[in-house]
Amino acid sequence: MSDPRGPVADTSGPADMASHAGGSGGAFFGRRKSKKLRGGQSDLFGSLLPRLLLPDDLPASLPALFAQPVRAVGLEIGFGGGEHLLAAARQSPDMGFIGCEPFINGMAKMLASIQREGLTNIRLWCDDAAPLLHRLPAEQLERVDLFYPDPWPKRRQRKRRFVSPRTLDDIARVLQPGGTFRFASDIDDYVGWTLARLADRDDLVWQAQGAADWQTPFEGWVGTRYEAKAYAAGRLPSYIRAIRVADGARNLTGRPDPSSA
Ligand SMILES: C[S@@+](CC[C@H](N)C(=O)[O-])C[C@H]1O[C@@H](n2cnc3c(N)ncnc32)[C@H](O)[C@@H]1O
Repeated sequence: MSDPRGPVADTSGPADMASHAGGSGGAFFGRRKSKKLRGGQSDLFGSLLPRLLLPDDLPASLPALFAQPVRAVGLEIGFGGGEHLLAAARQSPDMGFIGCEPFINGMAKMLASIQREGLTNIRLWCDDAAPLLHRLPAEQLERVDLFYPDPWPKRRQRKRRFVSPRTLDDIARVLQPGGTFRFASDIDDYVGWTLARLADRDDLVWQAQGAADWQTPFEGWVGTRYEAKAYAAGRLPSYIRAIRVADGARNLTGRPDPSSA
């Protein structure tokens, strides 16, 4: 999205949810709410969200968050309209997903879809993903997805970008060895920013073998409203996939040693 959002001005709406979520700070600088929620949407914040919201005390083993047995857990940061999270939950019923989105209208849409489809493999967090990442247990996630993060294109705004050495430290910490961090953006400068920060580290290794890698959408990819806007504006997305490698496992070619991942 090329219209960076103003400061968090409105945390009204499902007020108890916003306070339960622990306030913002960290890496969230967007807006909380746009359109007024319809009655049915608002009701879901009182009925369904409390059941799906992550508990303050997270279990040591994240699969325990889900009512059904799951073989692995993934996290999506800033799911927006929820297109990817919903598609992933439908495509992989054997996986559990944590969806994080502080924007209340996006969360309302997600709650309505979960209820309509009866999905049981999604848990939610309605606040900044940065503090959440920080308190997730180590090496528990198979995947962390960050698609079309707010670009904050002006030089003075760049410190607001979600990707930073600190958030990458946490992403590396929460991923299992061999787990994947997936990043997509239509803003070339943000793609370069992210690749530069990945290049600085040994624990998250970009997987590109050729141009086709970063021009090819990830498996199971579905388009989103933001992606459609990018294409309409003539901007092409890049897709970056980095693998979490065990400490010291990067070999001399700069690629992870698969035997130690
Ligand atoms: C440009 S939208 C992209 C939405 C979606 N990922 C997509 O590809 O369509 C960026 C989203 O990230 C959310 N966001 C921004 N900062 C965040 C943060 N610190 N933690 C979690 N979500 C955040 C915003 O509320 C917004 O919905």
